[in-house]
Amino acid sequence: MRIDFLTLFPEMFSGPFSASMLHRAQEAGVLEIHIHDIRSWSDNKHNKADDYPFGGGAGLVMMAQPIVDAIAAVDPKHEAHRLLMTPRGKLLSTQRARELAAFDRLLLLCGHYEGVDERVMAYMDGEVSIGDYILTGGELPAMVVADCVSRFVPGVLGREESAQDESFSKSLLEYPQYTRPADFRGQPVPKVLLSGHAANIAAWRQEQALIKTRQNRPELLGTFGKYYENKGK
Ligand code: ADE
Repeated sequence: MRIDFLTLFPEMFSGPFSASMLHRAQEAGVLEIHIHDIRSWSDNKHNKADDYPFGGGAGLVMMAQPIVDAIAAVDPKHEAHRLLMTPRGKLLSTQRARELAAFDRLLLLCGHYEGVDERVMAYMDGEVSIGDYILTGGELPAMVVADCVSRFVPGVLGREESAQDESFSKSLLEYPQYTRPADFRGQPVPKVLLSGHAANIAAWRQEQALIKTRQNRPELLGTFGKYYENKGK
């Protein structure tokens, strides 16, 4: 998969793609990342990319011209699925990330200031929000989308199935995990995990996942909530 980011702050992107899984995925040739500075397409002599909103109001609005020219240069044949990062977008979810992973190319436009000139939307395919809170810009959300979507791209994770059996895929949160030592400063690992009894371990993990879900995200239990109500208490 190829992901192009259009941003006013390209320097923000240096970290996440130069370490860990997303770095390895690029080395392995399954992920291609391109960062573009919108300002370099500005036809204004001061590289201006934002201006005051028509109708008044606080803040600045990102201008259509540099963005639309950047899109035309980066994706001239409209091969990428183009998304604007904005808190007013459709919420990101596991399901949405899986759908986005099916595209060969994504173009993520990072909104900023008080928003983007609405006429840019004529060149986009959709809008994505990563949650019901406002960040200072779309850069972190775009990186979150890229990370989350990449996990569903074949070859990005070590084992292909590891994106499957995690929290949210089954509407339950993850069960607790432990590694060595078996006793950490007086806290022992639950005995069942040392038993080697696969069925008991699976049952314990299922019960713990239910407890964690009921504690932190009871709404995820949905219609099964009633059935699970007294289990694992
Ligand atoms: N830009 C600012 N806040 C955002 C959010 N929650 N999701 C996507 N883009 C944003």
